[in-house]
Amino acid sequence: MRDPIIVSVTGGAGQVAYSLLFRIANGEVFGMDRPVSLIIKEVPQFVSTLEGVKMELEDCAFPLLRDVTLTDSDDEAFRGANWALLVGATPRGPGMERKDLLTLNATSFRDQGRAINKTAAENIRVVVVGNPCNTNCLIAMHHAPDVPRSRFTALTRLDQNRAMAQLAQKSGTMVTDVTNLAIWGNHSATQYPDFENARIRGEKAPEVIGDRDWLENTFVETVQKRGAAIIAARGKSSAASAANAVLDHVRSAIIPTPGDNWVSAGVISDGNNYGIADGLIFSFPVRSDGSGDYAIVEGVPLSDYAHKKLETTQWELISEREDVKELL
Ligand code: LMR
Repeated sequence: MRDPIIVSVTGGAGQVAYSLLFRIANGEVFGMDRPVSLIIKEVPQFVSTLEGVKMELEDCAFPLLRDVTLTDSDDEAFRGANWALLVGATPRGPGMERKDLLTLNATSFRDQGRAINKTAAENIRVVVVGNPCNTNCLIAMHHAPDVPRSRFTALTRLDQNRAMAQLAQKSGTMVTDVTNLAIWGNHSATQYPDFENARIRGEKAPEVIGDRDWLENTFVETVQKRGAAIIAARGKSSAASAANAVLDHVRSAIIPTPGDNWVSAGVISDGNNYGIADGLIFSFPVRSDGSGDYAIVEGVPLSDYAHKKLETTQWELISEREDVKELL
């Protein structure tokens, strides 16, 4: 057996983590030959809930689960970690936009970035889930100067999955028939789910769907506002689907992307792609060589319509960055 992979999960007593931890521990992400050590972090007031999660993890008798460490300290949370899944953050409630959480959550991502820089393993990869995830990712990255910037990613796979499900339902196909679904920009209501480049059974989605009005209006808005719709229906933000997307995001980073497909993730822009400013965590179509890193796919054609959408979401990210400039 190989050495255990060390996975840190913050927000350990929350609903997303409750869906996430058991699926990491059962081997479905890192493989059935890879033992897992979990470090679970939570703020002090929820540590007793965390004890219950630990007991349940033990009671699953997962063959691959080596140990479970509980902590309320950032330094302990990322010690030796190979993957850090930054889930913990105040979630939004009804009527809020994700960026309304910026001031509430920003400093904790600064502190986590600092701790990652000090204590994580040399090959650390970080996935930011807590909202607003793009800008929180930027803050954490900024405070971990010794970690390559490409190691920090923000979760837009949930938006990709939502978009694929919508296109499959509308076209009467399976989600596995929908490929090349790029989410551009912010994990927010300005994101652009790119139907023009999406494919259904290898054909361009607009040709298969044959209803541009539905795509431009219903589809785009449904994906943009899906998180809010779930909060309105459940009274709480998405949990199982968010956890599932985190697992998809990690798995797609450690398995080479098949064929000419791509997936979506928020990654650092260096100013050289699609006219997006340097230094934003922006969701692009990305591919992986299986190393754990994502690379931006170049040369995806963008219409005037798409360029306008990218512009809108870029401006939102620039304004979020401006709002936290004292932390950068
Ligand atoms: C989601 O997209 O469901 C999550 O980011 C939670 C939220 O606030 O929308």
